Amino acid sequence: MQFIGTKYHRNLGASSVCDLLRLLLYVLLVLVLKVFAVSLLLSSGLFRQQPADDTSAILENIPWKQQQTTPSIRTPEPGWHQKQEVLSRLEETSTSIVATASNRTPDTLWLFYNRIPRTGGHTLVALLQTLGADLDYQHQEHAYRTSWQRLLSAEEQKNLATWFEYNLWPKTYDRLALFVNFTAYRSSYERQRPATVTLLRDPIAQFSSQFHHRRTHTDTAKKNMAAREKQSPGSGRRWYWRGLEACVLEEDDECLLANGQPDFQRSIPFLCGQHQRCLLRGERWALQRAKFMVEYEYSVVGVLEEWNNTLAVLEHYLPAFLQGATQRYWSIEHAEDRHKEKNPRKSKPLSSRAIRVLKSKLGLEYELYEFCKQRLALQYAKVAPLLQHTTPLPPLKEPKKQLSAWDRFQIELNY
Ligand SMILES: *[C@@H]1O[C@H](CO)[C@@H](O)[C@H](O)[C@H]1NC(C)=O
Ligand SMILES: *[C@@H]1O[C@H](CO)[C@@H](O)[C@H](O)[C@H]1NC(C)=O
Repeated sequence: MQFIGTKYHRNLGASSVCDLLRLLLYVLLVLVLKVFAVSLLLSSGLFRQQPADDTSAILENIPWKQQQTTPSIRTPEPGWHQKQEVLSRLEETSTSIVATASNRTPDTLWLFYNRIPRTGGHTLVALLQTLGADLDYQHQEHAYRTSWQRLLSAEEQKNLATWFEYNLWPKTYDRLALFVNFTAYRSSYERQRPATVTLLRDPIAQFSSQFHHRRTHTDTAKKNMAAREKQSPGSGRRWYWRGLEACVLEEDDECLLANGQPDFQRSIPFLCGQHQRCLLRGERWALQRAKFMVEYEYSVVGVLEEWNNTLAVLEHYLPAFLQGATQRYWSIEHAEDRHKEKNPRKSKPLSSRAIRVLKSKLGLEYELYEFCKQRLALQYAKVAPLLQHTTPLPPLKEPKKQLSAWDRFQIELNY
């Protein structure tokens, strides 16, 4: 009995030491796993650090990189007061907005691309979709099948801000919408707002592209023709075969571009923002405000006619979303997307008389266009020395899968 007891006790002692050791091992294992998981998370795109190569070393040394401090709810963004001061003087005729190469990209996981019609949007969206796989973000294309507003109500703007905020994933979103002031609509606890980007095109080229798109895009053409046929038989076909030249010189409604009329197609409203007055053609205030937005709010306003420079600037002013854009654009895999949505119908070039007429009708548009070209040139001059250091992209990955059905549902529901 005694013997058995002792043995029993001894065994118990040994097994409890064993248990303790096992427990310690277990705790150690859990700790190691946790550290591993955290390090995985850190090395994933979520908390992306620039790779330590030549490029980042050079990038660190340029002044705008150092100025970028994290804005918080309490401390306003850098340059906030100066910006507000210029904004308050916008109506004075003496206020002139000067284009600079300043980097306006906020510290953010999100990018909003407010597309302007017929300015090369498909090309930039295709780039965002393919680069998302390399840079670990998701591009959400707006569902253009549903009808949508370009001028949004306050509630719709709030919904858009909330959509960005509702998870902390890096994401980009494109939509034909006037500029949205996310600073005004973000939640009070949220310090981030999306960076904004868009593309511009020579105003006559954009106008001409719209004119032809209305006729070559089958659904639009059919709808337009049917509406005209209903009013007077034969007018639909006449409209379809009408050339831009005649339309301009004979002052058809379609090409009249009368001042004081609301316009949802030109560039000024899209850059000027969510304001009725932004929509009025020939409104100098809208031009002034659009220039202000370009200089103080947009990371990059690209110019289609300066495509190579646009890519270089996009890449360096928005590296989190467009690093490698130049290389991807010119890669073989991307060839198909390079000329997406070009008008297939060749059109006769306009006479110099028609060009003169359009140039004067689109005068303010040209002022904005020149302003944006100037800003892009300054930005390009700043990044040009960095170009040969651009890090090559790895080979093409599978495109990131689209956001969940729930995400899409949210968008369709709200817009
Ligand atoms: C954007 O909204 C903020 C906050 O309401 C405001 O202070 C700022 O002036 C607005 N910016 C513009 C350009 O209207
Ligand atoms: C743009 O870059 C591509 C590729 O480097 C080059 O082939 C092309 O000539 C450039 N275009 C212009 C207008 O400089």
